[in-house]
Amino acid sequence: MDYTTLGRTGMRVSVAGLGCGGFSRLGLGTGGDEKGAIAIVHHAAASGVNLFDTAAAYGTEPVLGKAIKTLRRDDIVICTKAPFSWSSGRADPAGLVASLDNSLRQLDTPYIDVYQLHGVPPSNYAHALEQLAPVLLREKEKGKIRFLGITETAPHDLQHETLHRAAQDGVWDVVMVGFSMMHQNARERVFPVTRAHKVGTLLMFAVRNVFSQPGRLAATLRELAVEGQVSAALADSDNPLGFLIHEGGATSVVDACYRYVRNEPGVDVVLFGTGNPAHLKTNIESLLKPPLPVADHRKIGKLFGHLVGVGLDAPHLSNPRART
Ligand SMILES: NC(=O)c1ccc[n+]([C@@H]2O[C@H](COP(=O)([O-])OP(=O)(O)OC[C@H]3O[C@@H](n4cnc5c(N)ncnc54)[C@H](OP(=O)(O)O)[C@@H]3O)[C@@H](O)[C@H]2O)c1
Repeated sequence: MDYTTLGRTGMRVSVAGLGCGGFSRLGLGTGGDEKGAIAIVHHAAASGVNLFDTAAAYGTEPVLGKAIKTLRRDDIVICTKAPFSWSSGRADPAGLVASLDNSLRQLDTPYIDVYQLHGVPPSNYAHALEQLAPVLLREKEKGKIRFLGITETAPHDLQHETLHRAAQDGVWDVVMVGFSMMHQNARERVFPVTRAHKVGTLLMFAVRNVFSQPGRLAATLRELAVEGQVSAALADSDNPLGFLIHEGGATSVVDACYRYVRNEPGVDVVLFGTGNPAHLKTNIESLLKPPLPVADHRKIGKLFGHLVGVGLDAPHLSNPRART
């Protein structure tokens, strides 16, 4: 495993972080059971992963809590999130502490390393900063939280307005940002400010469904070609990213996706979610491989650098491209 420093938190974290949400939820979202979910956490830890990201909304806090019982608490970094309701502009700060205490109980841990507000839209950011952050800072002083974080609602904040502001406000030590081959604008909108203010970054949406399901990728590119956003040649292919797979290049589309984001300046931890032990192994391998060949990286920029918000599907959204 490779390790890096998570911004100004100073914590040493693995460059690969296990996401306990998304469609898989450690396999609980795809038909797996608790035993399998615990095994995924243990496989990850055995491979050197020391950062685990969950949320009240995922329903995986209890299983993560059970899994970490056999790990040394000081050796791992637990990130969790307040329920989605706290990203509302009307959320009453009083109940936030009860939510935090509930997460501590679910995880069965005395402290949370990074406590995040979950999916805060730009319209509610002022409320989060002015009303909710002071409450959380008081809980931090009591030792329940080590660092504060905030995550964007990627499909509804395509220009990263929330994080662009949050990275400069001095309160949030960690941000979670969407970035992938087909949603690259964090490079201009987020990473320059997080780097300037030493805010740690956790990356989401590197793969999701568009890159993990070949049929979905081909269909998405056909739609984009109809809109004139990508060339017709890409739309005509059953394997439109096949050009990335060659001797000395990527071994698969998913391999290319993880290597693409991993080596972006400003990215600290790439989160990956899976319920499949084989995927866990290959994803970690991908994240530890060298960058993609320069020519392939350039080609991704040329073909997709202008795209915004492609592939940001969330489990509760029916529109697979979820671009609004
Ligand atoms: N706003 C937020 O706060 C927010 C939003 C989104 C995500 N997140 C966090 O980020 C984490 C990662 O989410 P993500 O958006 O990057 O998506 P993700 O959940 O990592 O999506 C990956 C998808 O691809 C599949 N997959 C993984 N490895 C694969 C492989 N090697 N080959 C083929 N399929 C593979 C997984 O299913 P299998 O089980 O089959 O592997 C899963 O369905 C989440 O778990 C969560 O912790 C936070």
